[in-house]
Amino acid sequence: MKDVMILTGAGQIGMAIARRMGYGMKIVVGDKKLENAQAIAKIMNDAGFDVVSMEMDLSSRASIMSLIAEAQKYGEISMLVNAAGVSPSQAPIEAILKVDLYGTAVLLEEVGKVIKKGGVGVTISSQSGWRMPALTAEEDELLATTSAEELLRLPMLQPENIRDTLHAYQMAKRCNEKRVMAEAVKWGKRGARINDIAPGIIVTPLAIDEFNGPRGDFYKNMFANCPAGCPGTADEVANVAELLMSGKGAFITGSTVLIDGGATASYFYGPLKPQK
Ligand SMILES: NC(=O)c1ccc[n+]([C@@H]2O[C@H](COP(=O)([O-])OP(=O)(O)OC[C@H]3O[C@@H](n4cnc5c(N)ncnc54)[C@H](O)[C@@H]3O)[C@@H](O)[C@H]2O)c1
Repeated sequence: MKDVMILTGAGQIGMAIARRMGYGMKIVVGDKKLENAQAIAKIMNDAGFDVVSMEMDLSSRASIMSLIAEAQKYGEISMLVNAAGVSPSQAPIEAILKVDLYGTAVLLEEVGKVIKKGGVGVTISSQSGWRMPALTAEEDELLATTSAEELLRLPMLQPENIRDTLHAYQMAKRCNEKRVMAEAVKWGKRGARINDIAPGIIVTPLAIDEFNGPRGDFYKNMFANCPAGCPGTADEVANVAELLMSGKGAFITGSTVLIDGGATASYFYGPLKPQK
């Protein structure tokens, strides 16, 4: 038996983190598009990793449970990397809330019940959630602690209160941060840690869909006018994951780390500030 890593989302960010942290482990990668999971399994197996792929849908509790059951066939789950998601240009409001918000909540809850003592997890939210004004303390608490099955029934997530797909994505990513805080308390009872990374623009197929989508100019302007002056790479996100998931991050849990080239700073106090 080996220690097992679950990776959801066979994209560039997920693969970069799995390559950084998963050597010597059994890595079970699930993706809605089986071909994506198979593609990164091949790349990684050709490079000496031990990866199996399966089709899974983050928006389905049953599918999440099947992924966990599959992973447990190989040993105890000691790492979780949740890098599955859909962006505002890729999906309608309902799908964004079901995958990015509800699915992430269920995954963190269910893996948190079985994570090995001393295990670690990361989930990927987004800088996008940092641009939305603060919610009330009551709304934050509802996002953090409402049972996963009730989340999508919250009034603040009903269609009349969600303006567009960007707003849905921001709410989902804000919810991810709050869930990680609440889950860290539960994971801590097993001696395990869970954190969140909020990336800015990272060049991946998802970001390329955004560059070519209706907000393409907005995104290109964002990285041109952020302090770093360029988009980031998945390997830079893996640098943060390595800190959070290694022993060096032993005192870090329930946290969100923003890695956005300073785009959020520029949005509030620099050239990216929206004109009134
Ligand atoms: N790339 C960026 O600029 C950026 C910025 C901020 C946040 N993020 C977040 O990072 C995460 C990873 O994105 P990425 O940039 O690596 O994108 P990517 O497109 O390379 O990978 C995302 C993967 O998730 C899979 N997926 C989509 N819906 C799914 C579902 N219901 N169940 C299982 N798998 C599903 C896709 O098939 C794809 O393989 C996402 O949560 C995204 O919101 C990305």
